[in-house]
Amino acid sequence: MDLRAEGVSRRYFRQGKGRNFFFAVQETDLTLPAGNLIEITGRSGSGKSTLLNMLAGLLEPTTGRVLLDGTDLYALDDGKRSILRNRSIGVIPQGQTGLHSLTVLENVKLPSLMYDRQPCSDERAEALLERVGIAHLRDVYPNELSGGEMRRLAIARALVMDPGVLLADEPTGDLDDENTHAVLSLLRQCADGGKAVLLVTHEREAAQYAHAVYTMSGGILTAADQG
Ligand SMILES: Nc1ncnc2c1ncn2[C@@H]1O[C@H](COP(=O)(O)OP(=O)(O)O)[C@@H](O)[C@H]1O
Ligand SMILES: [Mg+2]
Repeated sequence: MDLRAEGVSRRYFRQGKGRNFFFAVQETDLTLPAGNLIEITGRSGSGKSTLLNMLAGLLEPTTGRVLLDGTDLYALDDGKRSILRNRSIGVIPQGQTGLHSLTVLENVKLPSLMYDRQPCSDERAEALLERVGIAHLRDVYPNELSGGEMRRLAIARALVMDPGVLLADEPTGDLDDENTHAVLSLLRQCADGGKAVLLVTHEREAAQYAHAVYTMSGGILTAADQG
């Protein structure tokens, strides 16, 4: 699947004196082609998560459109957009995630239980946990996980529906070098397997896994060196 942003921007209101509206993301075009890993780097506060959330169908742009294989995500009503997102767009969000009343294994299966779909088998969920290196934690609750383990749970959960698009917001933030490389090569494998993958990261070594690299600065996206 291809995911494309056309002229998307996002304006926010900030409390305080003076000019209260500002654009966290200026009008931006970006295509995530099937089979490619696209990387975005940039300082904290430059608008990376805002752009990713608009691409994910989670945050309505102030201007512009987001097209998933030509379907305008924000022209759909909430219900239809939720179903399409659940099926086609895996998101690894920034920060802590995971439902605390469910075990690790149940958390991974959760997206497959929404919208009356067939639940994924325990075997498949376990295989995903194996892939991210936390199979031994399957029966643990998220509040017992380290930051890095939580991050890997989020990755397994984002992959459970086998989405055509995968959007990862600083997925290696809490990981040591070894696990950082494991996660980056897993994302690259997803791209090589045909998914459109977006990686937002501070990781210097990430560029070697990417097909193209962009830099975000003050809400403006610029193409950088090829990976
Ligand atoms: N809901 C919001 N309301 C107002 N300002 C916001 C909101 N969310 C983010 N911002 C601001 O938008 C800018 C970009 O934020 P973000 O996209 O999270 O940046 P990054 O992911 O690159 O760190 C920041 O200045 C942030 O403070
Ligand atoms: Mg961010």
